[in-house]
Amino acid sequence: MPEPTSTADGPALDLPPERLPRHIAVIMDGNGRWAQQRGRPRIEGHRRGADSARAMTEECARLGIEQLTLYCFSSENWKRPRPELDFLMSLLVEYMAQQRAEVVRRGVKVSVIGRREGMPEKALREMDQTIAATRGNTGLHVCLAVNYGGRAELTDAVRTVAREVQTGRLDPEQIAEQTIAEHLYTAGMPDPDLLIRTAGELRVSNFLLWQISYAEIWVTDCCWPDFGVPHLHEAVRDYARRQRRFGGLSTESGLA
Ligand code: IPE
Ligand code: IPE
Ligand code: MG
Repeated sequence: MPEPTSTADGPALDLPPERLPRHIAVIMDGNGRWAQQRGRPRIEGHRRGADSARAMTEECARLGIEQLTLYCFSSENWKRPRPELDFLMSLLVEYMAQQRAEVVRRGVKVSVIGRREGMPEKALREMDQTIAATRGNTGLHVCLAVNYGGRAELTDAVRTVAREVQTGRLDPEQIAEQTIAEHLYTAGMPDPDLLIRTAGELRVSNFLLWQISYAEIWVTDCCWPDFGVPHLHEAVRDYARRQRRFGGLSTESGLA
């Protein structure tokens, strides 16, 4: 029997490691509603949301999850009022600067996916510093989706592929699914196994459109600032009970 998930300093999950998702992706939604329900400004929800992101990173590292991808800011979120955008960008700068030493110490590797164009210089600088400082780390990989849109990502990939065809480096007949995957921002990363969305909306909101083809989806009504270790454990336990078929037949049904 495989060993249950380690419980260094937290509650046990009692799941064999091979039942754990390798890659968890999270649509961290409901910061604004969390604040509004309390008669507080939306930005307070974003601040508390950043605390949840930190807690989630710690717990995923503890559980031995390989990758955690957090949807921080979508390319469509620029439609929001200027003061909220300014706050979100300054929170990103603050979060990067404050958390850098901690993620380095924990052996966490940080990467960022999304378009750089349109992002404030300061935010890019802080993100680049964290990426560089954690590049050699081999612990949990935290991938932050910032100014990210799934359609924008596919558009960028198509442009790059088209350029390679134009210059004769790529034969159109040779374009395979793997070719597309290798031209996405997520090249080299495993696809998400588990997609978590908080605050109850049943939609993907332009997140990792290609990569979530076979992700198991888990939605909770809990708003992101209230999302904690017990919710993560519930999602992972639920995931561990599911049968993934990828279009085939279940091995557990004996029909495979
Ligand atoms: C998610 O919370 C954070 C971002 C999209 C930046 P929201 O700000 O979308 O919160 P709600 O959905 O309005 O409650
Ligand atoms: C998705 O949440 C984006 C992030 C969590 C960063 P939104 O709040 O932008 O999604 P919609 O607008 O409800 O679809
Ligand atoms: Mg929202």
